[in-house]
Amino acid sequence: MSSSKQKGTKAPKKSPAHKKVSAKQKKSSLKEKSSETAITSMLHESRVFNPPKALAKNALIGSEQQYKKMWNESVKNPDKFWGKQAKENLEWIKPFKKVLNWKPPYAKWFEDGKLNVSVNCLDRHCRSERRNKAALIWEGEPGDSRVLTYNDLLREVSKCANALRALGVKAGNRVAIYMPMIPEITIAMLACTRIGAMHTVIFGGFSSEALADRCNDSQSSVIITADGGYRKGSSVPLKKNVDMALEKTTSVKNVIVVKRTGENVSMKQNRDHWWHDLVNPQSGICEPYAADSEHPLFLLYTSGSTGKPKGILHTTGGYLLGATVSYKYVFDLKETDTYWCTADAGWVTGHSYIVYGPLSNGATTVMYEGAPNYPDWGRIWSIIEKHHVSILYTAPTAIRACIRAGNEWPKKYNLKSLRLLGSVGEPINPEAWIWYQEVIGEKRCPIVDTWWQTETGGMMITPIPGAIPQIPGSATRPFFGIDAEIVDKNGKPVPQGAGGFLVIKKPWPSMLRTIWGDDERFKAAYWSQVPGVYFTGDGARQDKKGNFWIMGRIDDVLNVSGHRLSTMEIESALVSYDIVAEAAVVGRPDDLKGEGIVCFVTLKSGTKPSPEIKEKLSKHVVGQIGALARPDEIRFADALPKTRSGKIMRRLLRDIAAGKQSTQDTTTLEDFSVLASLRQDED
Ligand code: PRX
Repeated sequence: MSSSKQKGTKAPKKSPAHKKVSAKQKKSSLKEKSSETAITSMLHESRVFNPPKALAKNALIGSEQQYKKMWNESVKNPDKFWGKQAKENLEWIKPFKKVLNWKPPYAKWFEDGKLNVSVNCLDRHCRSERRNKAALIWEGEPGDSRVLTYNDLLREVSKCANALRALGVKAGNRVAIYMPMIPEITIAMLACTRIGAMHTVIFGGFSSEALADRCNDSQSSVIITADGGYRKGSSVPLKKNVDMALEKTTSVKNVIVVKRTGENVSMKQNRDHWWHDLVNPQSGICEPYAADSEHPLFLLYTSGSTGKPKGILHTTGGYLLGATVSYKYVFDLKETDTYWCTADAGWVTGHSYIVYGPLSNGATTVMYEGAPNYPDWGRIWSIIEKHHVSILYTAPTAIRACIRAGNEWPKKYNLKSLRLLGSVGEPINPEAWIWYQEVIGEKRCPIVDTWWQTETGGMMITPIPGAIPQIPGSATRPFFGIDAEIVDKNGKPVPQGAGGFLVIKKPWPSMLRTIWGDDERFKAAYWSQVPGVYFTGDGARQDKKGNFWIMGRIDDVLNVSGHRLSTMEIESALVSYDIVAEAAVVGRPDDLKGEGIVCFVTLKSGTKPSPEIKEKLSKHVVGQIGALARPDEIRFADALPKTRSGKIMRRLLRDIAAGKQSTQDTTTLEDFSVLASLRQDED
């Protein structure tokens, strides 16, 4: 890594699309202090990357003026804006007359309209010249590959939908999907939508315990699974986990099992059905269910600040519109694109941007079954080369892992097909952003850093690539129809530049409708901190140009000597030091300062932890942010404890930092041995 990158706040060598902001601007946003109730934001990034001219010329939204005009219209007259978008981008079985019925916190979008999601994702393309276009390009971990055209996918979805109907599944029933990343996961999701059943996809890495909890909460009557799934060359025993989960559930009456790995599994008569026996013989034609726009579409469980996972409910018309329109504009979609999102379909990113957004737009979506480092760290880049991927959408955690693995891996492959890059899931530190832009995007591709949540259904704050200049670490501007604001704990807007709570002031089509079976928790979690507005749970600040800088979860914010600091900012400072691979920062109670700063750091391979390195890192953080951010403790670890989706488990780290034995739920922890090693490092 070059020394210019290490400095973080200094501008690196200029690239053509890159310009520095003025010194005045820089000064004004440095070390801005907010009111007592807000968050102190001190990280500053001065590099700006303008949209490449060629891209802007052919873009759907090709200038900042055009973006501003559309955004203004969208928030001034949302009914008109969303009504038009819904007519232009979706096919309705019964057209809607009313756009929005808003009785806070309950929104109903297009409530008198009817549509079917699978018809929008498949049938309408099969009636066009897209019928033989690749809808899904699938890459199996062992190297096998399948391509399903829109015609193929419609046929398979119809068969699966008929099979579900044959098992007695009706509109409104819940179907749990616990599968590896194979085409059948997409087929199963769309099959549910075809008959109006709700799916609840449970990430294949969850334990049987977590699966049972989610089946019980949703009262699912069917589970669709596989014998196993490949992960880093070995097999994940999915069916075995289902069998164990079923000992703790009573609602599940039928299980459909795809044969993927061929491992031995037990099949219970009358309950368990092989996919190939049940689904394959069905008719390839299935009458779609005409769903009310507000018909429930799916449940997706996500963690809150308290223990029990929340079943986030999304409904049909609004969700599909949000996924469709955001996908189209944010990736500036072209008919010839080959798009790859590396998320798992078990997370909201997979729902909105592997399945619904791409297919509703008639795009080609790539799906990969396995681990990014199997058989080696070249796998991601080899898939891009093999399938000529033009848009890559991935997570900062994956980017940082690739940085750690070394530039020699991407350099081995031809990445010229790439034209646009995306980031999602967590704040991307400028260091990783620049690497992504230089090494993967070869300084050619814009990066869309997309901020959103399971609850929001689709992207909320993100650059539009042909219109909005990108700044490493900033998700930049609100998407159309999104009225975002930063407020203090009393709901008052904070001064420009100051940190505060990110809220959304107007309803948007793909917003969650409630928490399944728990309207009270829905109100308490999202609508009560600041009455009348949606509380995101994230801290943020906005710069002079209106760019949003997400500072991480509110519960990840530290209060050190009366100063609130975002853990992400300290992490970003640590990661900008060239020997650091990854860092997580948490608070621990401190008698003197309120909270002390504890940093967990993984070093790049080849660097050995030492007291000297601790000292250097501490100085570096002080140099980057200021003396108030000086770490109280730095601990080294081989890896950080993460959920299987790659999120660092901060609550666990907080317990470790405080010297407590953790009482937290660890069902999502990727590698328990990581925890043990972190505890041991108490020198
Ligand atoms: O804290 C924000 C962070 O991830 C949270 C939402 O997590 P989840 O519901 O699992 O959805 C992840 C995929 C959309 C947010 O509250 N987050 C997500 N994207 C970003 C982000 N933080 C900063 N920048 C992002 N681009």
